[in-house]
Amino acid sequence: MKLPSKVKLVDVGPRDGLQNEKSPVPAAVKIELVHRLQDAGLTEIEVTSFVSPKWVPQMADNAQVMAGIRRKPGVRYSVLTPNMQGFEAAVSTAPELWPDEIVVFASASEAFSQRNINCSIAQSIERFRPVVQAAQARHIRVRGAISCAVACPYEGEVAPERVELVARLMKDIGVEHIGVADTIGVGTPIKVQRAMEAALKHYAVDQVSGHFHDTYGQALANTLVCLQMGIWQFDTSCAGLGGCPYAKGATGNVATEDVVYMLHGMGIATGIDLHKLVEAGKFISDFLQRKPNSRAATALLSKAEA
Ligand code: HMG
Ligand code: MG
Repeated sequence: MKLPSKVKLVDVGPRDGLQNEKSPVPAAVKIELVHRLQDAGLTEIEVTSFVSPKWVPQMADNAQVMAGIRRKPGVRYSVLTPNMQGFEAAVSTAPELWPDEIVVFASASEAFSQRNINCSIAQSIERFRPVVQAAQARHIRVRGAISCAVACPYEGEVAPERVELVARLMKDIGVEHIGVADTIGVGTPIKVQRAMEAALKHYAVDQVSGHFHDTYGQALANTLVCLQMGIWQFDTSCAGLGGCPYAKGATGNVATEDVVYMLHGMGIATGIDLHKLVEAGKFISDFLQRKPNSRAATALLSKAEA
C-alpha cells in the first residue's frame, strides 16, 4: 500500500467551524484562533466568508477579521466568495489584506444549492465564472468545493455522476482545485471513494481534497480511504467545530487533532505541532464553553491533567 509521505491540512475551523455558532464570537477571538493555528504549524487556514450577513450573521465581521490577522510567511489564508459581491468585498482593501485563495462552493444536489446559495447548480457556475476570472487576474488562487458529494439533507443519496458533472463544470470555468465535501457526514469509505473517483475524472490527484463532516464518526475512515488513493489534502476543523446552517443535524468537520494524531501515528508528516494544536482547540472550546469535540484532544488534555 503506497501512502503519501506528507499531508496538507486546511483548518477550516474559523470559517466552517464558527459560521453556525448562534452567539456572536468577537473578531478578536477569531483572530486569536487563526494566530494559534498558524503557530501550531497550519499552513492554510480558511478564515471567513464573504456571504450575506443576513444569511450567516456570524461571518459579518469578515473584513475586520482579515484586517486583524498577523500574517505569517508561508501560510495561505482563504475565504469563501460565492459571487462577485463577495469577491469585491474581499479585495476592497489594500492588497496585503487580500485573501491568498478564494473558495467558490457549489453543490452536487439541486436542493442544497437552492437552500445554501439561493440558486441552481447551473446558475451558481455562472456566478462563479467572473469570480474565478477576477481572482486569477489578481493572482489569487481559486479552490472549488462540491457540497453533498455523497448525500444531501433534502434529496438523500447523491450519485457519483452528479459529483463528476459539477467537477467538470468547475474545471471548465478554470477552478484549479476541487474539495469533495460530505456536508452531512453520512458517507462511508466506499461511497466516499466513488465520489473522489468522480472528481478525479477531471482533476489530478494533487488538485483534489477531502472535506468530511463527522456526524456519524466515519471521517477518519473516509480520510484513510483517500490516503490509499493518493489524496493528500484535507479540510479539518480544530476541536471538531462546526456545521452548516443549511444542513440541520450535521455536526462539525473531522477534528484536526484526530487527523493529525492518526497521520503522525502512520508516519505521515503534517508539519503540525499536535500539542500546540490541542491548545488552540482548547482556547476556542473554552471560549464557547464546551469540551473539544476531538477524541485525541480529550485524551491528551486528560493525560496532561493527570
Ligand atoms: P441572494 O439573496 O441570492 O443574493 O444570496 P442577491 O444577489 O439576490 O442579493 C440579495 C441580498 O444579499 C442583497 O442585500 C445583497 O446585497 C446581499 P439586500 O439588498 O437584501 O440588503 N448579498 C451579499 N451580501 C454580502 N456578501 C455577499 C452578498 N451577495 C448578496 N457576497 C448568497 C446569495 C450566496 C449571498 C446567499 O445565499 C448567502 O449568503 N448564502 C450563505 C451561503 C453560506 O455561507 N453557506 C455556508 C457556507 S457553505 C458550507 O458550509 C459548505 C462547505 O463547508 C462544504 C461542505 O461542507 O459542504 C463549503
Ligand atoms: Mg463544510
